Amino acid sequence: MDLYKQALKAIRDMVEEARQMALPDPMVMSLATVDAAGQPSVRTVYLQAVVDSGLVFFTSCHSRKAIQLAANPRAAVCLYSQPLARQIQVEGTAWLLGDEEAAIYWAMRGRDNQLAAWASGQIESLESREQFEQRLAEYRQRFDFQREVPKPHHWCGYCLAPERIELWKKSWRYPQQRVCYQKTADGWSVTHVNP
Ligand SMILES: Cc1cc2nc3c(=O)[nH]c(=O)nc-3n(C[C@H](O)[C@H](O)[C@H](O)COP(=O)(O)O)c2cc1C
Repeated sequence: MDLYKQALKAIRDMVEEARQMALPDPMVMSLATVDAAGQPSVRTVYLQAVVDSGLVFFTSCHSRKAIQLAANPRAAVCLYSQPLARQIQVEGTAWLLGDEEAAIYWAMRGRDNQLAAWASGQIESLESREQFEQRLAEYRQRFDFQREVPKPHHWCGYCLAPERIELWKKSWRYPQQRVCYQKTADGWSVTHVNP
């Protein structure tokens, strides 16, 4: 198996292991982006899928992170599982998914999540929590007679194409193990890093 596939498999394996152990939020990760002035920001998002081209997540195109990614697509994510004593860091470039691909993921969302995506712009201030509830109720009514809720244009997907993947694992033999996969001009390399 080539090194890149090996690293992706390690990500899938960690998520799968967490799922099998019924750990809470096995697909949750921190996503870091940088604004035009170089100021980093970080927030939690769901890892929607690990595909051959990278890590897929979804958000509002109006959000702060989306605005930052439009200006600078360099991004990083970090997944941590305390019960598994593992961390995965991925750095690379986040590309917008095409509408057709995004529509496939949209169809997998539950109706309540789809309605929440309509109501959630993620950037504007709300006068109150009730204002959001009201927006949600309006969309619920608007699509009440439609079997399928259409995807709003502002709901967009990204694929973080990895250029560096670092796996951190605590083991009983040694305090930690760090293995770093790095994209190079000739393909991928792997090194063990001093913990
Ligand atoms: C467990 C958890 C999962 C989340 N998943 C997502 C997600 O998949 N996409 C998303 O846009 N926001 C998600 N959020 C909300 C974000 O953390 C964040 O508040 C929102 O996206 C706005 O971020 P921004 O202003 O930095 O763009 C999640 C929050 C939590 C706590």
